[in-house]
Amino acid sequence: MIINYFDDLLRKPTLFKDESKLDINYLPKKLPHREKELSLLSQLFLALITNPNSISRKVLITGKTGIGKTATVKLFGEMLKDAAKRRKMNIKYIHINCRKERTSYKVLIKIIRTINLNFPKRGYSPQDLIDTILDLVKVRNIHLLIVLDELNYLIDKDRDLIYSLTRLNDDSFNEPQRLSLIGIIRDISCLNNLDRSTLSTLQRNIIKFNNYSRKQIYEIIKFRAEDSLKENVASEDIIVSIVDLILERGDLRYGLNLLWRACKIAESKNLLKITAECLRLGNQETIPFLTQDILCYLSTQKLIFLLSIVKSLQKSKTPSISINEIVKLYSVLCENLNLSARSYSQLWNYLQEFKREKIISIKILSEKIKGRKSLIEILDASLPKLEDFILKKLQSREIFL
Ligand SMILES: Nc1ncnc2c1ncn2[C@@H]1O[C@H](COP(=O)(O)OP(=O)(O)O)[C@@H](O)[C@H]1O
Ligand SMILES: [Mg+2]
Repeated sequence: MIINYFDDLLRKPTLFKDESKLDINYLPKKLPHREKELSLLSQLFLALITNPNSISRKVLITGKTGIGKTATVKLFGEMLKDAAKRRKMNIKYIHINCRKERTSYKVLIKIIRTINLNFPKRGYSPQDLIDTILDLVKVRNIHLLIVLDELNYLIDKDRDLIYSLTRLNDDSFNEPQRLSLIGIIRDISCLNNLDRSTLSTLQRNIIKFNNYSRKQIYEIIKFRAEDSLKENVASEDIIVSIVDLILERGDLRYGLNLLWRACKIAESKNLLKITAECLRLGNQETIPFLTQDILCYLSTQKLIFLLSIVKSLQKSKTPSISINEIVKLYSVLCENLNLSARSYSQLWNYLQEFKREKIISIKILSEKIKGRKSLIEILDASLPKLEDFILKKLQSREIFL
């Protein structure tokens, strides 16, 4: 055999055992410290197996970002599919992320296409689609478990779909029940806009996912590191440092991403293990690159206004905040800097721009007065990091706050 020396030279040693196991979409085989929730879900959906199509179960899951809601429900879905398959039962599990499928039309098409791949994408009304789903499950004798993940994105825009989905079985009393639902949201307050009966249907079974404790976060990160990295690549000290870094927000997605970054940096420096410096470098980059790019081109006024949003959110310690509160802080900042504050409608335009750039999201509570009854939220960036980044940008423009 001819040896190709290039292959050898190009095959750089890797510190990963399996890099894909730190991918954001990877589903671990087990989820330590979510056993209770998995068991509860199994109990709630047991009748789907013991007494097929006898009930339509609706469950709501709540809890902060990055604490394993999606992963737990997906792992439960795997268990359900497996249990059904072994008993030759026709249960279909469909996981839909409502942040991606942003309209009820897209959600419904997605549901249909997991049953019938060839279904055309256009030319139907939502009611047509719902009828199609009902027909399909009947003809093919299926029980559907639909998971609407990040359901809040749909509730804000389209309450009718949730209404229809929670009602689907009701007008066919005594008929086989063929549809169950799991909704996943961050907190229950986003349901306030729903009508009473939908609300009461959904609130019957709520599973609240509690935050992980420090010890639990430590064990999970350790488990995920052992699963994905070669031995001794992440030392005890490094794991403890990651736990410390994510403890305040408790967001494991951030912690796992940090572990991945730090390991990549160690590799690029030809090290044999992750050092504190790799971790520090990895942690510096954690405002999404896209956001960094956008921030660089914002005018000083816009940056100051964005800073007011970040500071107000940090002060309030709630996930979202009213515009009035932001404007109050903004006025103070402008006064300190001797700048004239922009008018309310200009600020409203800034908000629209931030929204278009996906830096913030705006929740409208009442349409009446332009924006007065809206809540502002920052989704994907750590607030202290964002604050730091904006302050540095302002400093580079000779503005010191
Ligand atoms: N108990 C756990 N064991 C192992 N990994 C976990 C656990 N909980 C969460 N994760 C991982 O942390 C990340 C965030 O979890 P995710 O389910 O996406 O959170 P949520 O849906 O609550 O925002 C995922 O990569 C997931 O695999
Ligand atoms: Mg999730």
